[in-house]
Amino acid sequence: MKKLQTRIEIISDLKESSAVFAEAGEIIRSGGLVAFPTETVYGLGANGLDAEACAKIYEAKGRPSDNPLILHVADRAMIDCAATVTEMAERVLAAFAPGPVTVILPKRDAVPPSVTGGLSTVGIRMPDNDVARALIRAAGAPIAAPSANRSGRPSPTTATAVFADMDGKIPLVLDGGPCRFGVESTIVDCTGERAEILRPGAVTREMLTEVLGELAPPPVLREGEAPRAPGMKYTHYAPLAPLTLIAAPWEKMGEAFRAAVREATAEGKRPGLIVSRETAEEIAGLVPLENIAVTGSAGDLSTMAANLYESLRYFDDKNADILFAEAVGEAGLGVAIMNRLKKAAGGRIRFYN
Ligand code: TXA
Ligand code: MG
Repeated sequence: MKKLQTRIEIISDLKESSAVFAEAGEIIRSGGLVAFPTETVYGLGANGLDAEACAKIYEAKGRPSDNPLILHVADRAMIDCAATVTEMAERVLAAFAPGPVTVILPKRDAVPPSVTGGLSTVGIRMPDNDVARALIRAAGAPIAAPSANRSGRPSPTTATAVFADMDGKIPLVLDGGPCRFGVESTIVDCTGERAEILRPGAVTREMLTEVLGELAPPPVLREGEAPRAPGMKYTHYAPLAPLTLIAAPWEKMGEAFRAAVREATAEGKRPGLIVSRETAEEIAGLVPLENIAVTGSAGDLSTMAANLYESLRYFDDKNADILFAEAVGEAGLGVAIMNRLKKAAGGRIRFYN
């Protein structure tokens, strides 16, 4: 791939930046890539109806080509060229779009097979972010966009994180500031009898149940079985140093981290810790201050989610060769946080009772 000069454009006002959107729209229309903010994570966008343009996404990310892309639309009308909207999806969209949700729907012929990894369904999402929707409008077509990270790395929630992974690979990054939610959209399969959550996100099971009634139960993956969202089978969100989760009753969290740090130090390792503010206070002095990333106050799952990926990336250039992260309760948004943390940790969890 030809090395490109990657430019970051800060967008603070849509009108003032109209020339940037005209240029970005032209890049997409002519088959190029533009990274852009959404309310969840930054996306790496291409014309979603152009197979060749979408092939560039896989190349820039180093992503396996059987992993399908989500199409981003500016409004409800734009969906009809790409997918058949089921009654169930109508209800999800009416309740949560624009917002951090993706519906899986039967695809139409206009969507090339390379976008859907050969599947007969397509993921559709209407982002709740003005920069994203202005870009889609400027392009005049649905934009296919995965998270704008190199495959396997934590998703980017700032333009700087996009630049770290995509420098030299794409011409333009639109910088709309840090992402509000910080974890990728909830993916809901709306093609069956009952809705099924394929990836948890900020639109929680509880919220979906209120709108749809009973959902399909969460999948229990048996050995050798492929997950229904093809992307979920790959290594994901991994920081550069190996990560282990620490699960403990609340009153023992400090003790659990002390034990983990003691062991790692005895093996000559330098631990980095990803913790709540409360745990950080509890273990003050245990490791150098620069080896602690605080995600937020323990009760405040929204803030913890918003800071999650940045705290994983924080240790990229720190003097830490082993990472420990505090587990959270698996309810509400905690389900999405733990889903990403477990993947980032490759399933390594230490229970401390
Ligand atoms: O919040 C988000 O959804 C972000 C922003 C940029 O919009 N995008 C995102 O895309 O997370 P990506 O490519 O990193 O993750 C898309 C996930 C993958 O796990 C993929 O396998 C799944 O969606 N997916 C896409 N199309 C699908 C389909 N037709 N059926 C099942 N899973 C699908
Ligand atoms: Mg991703």
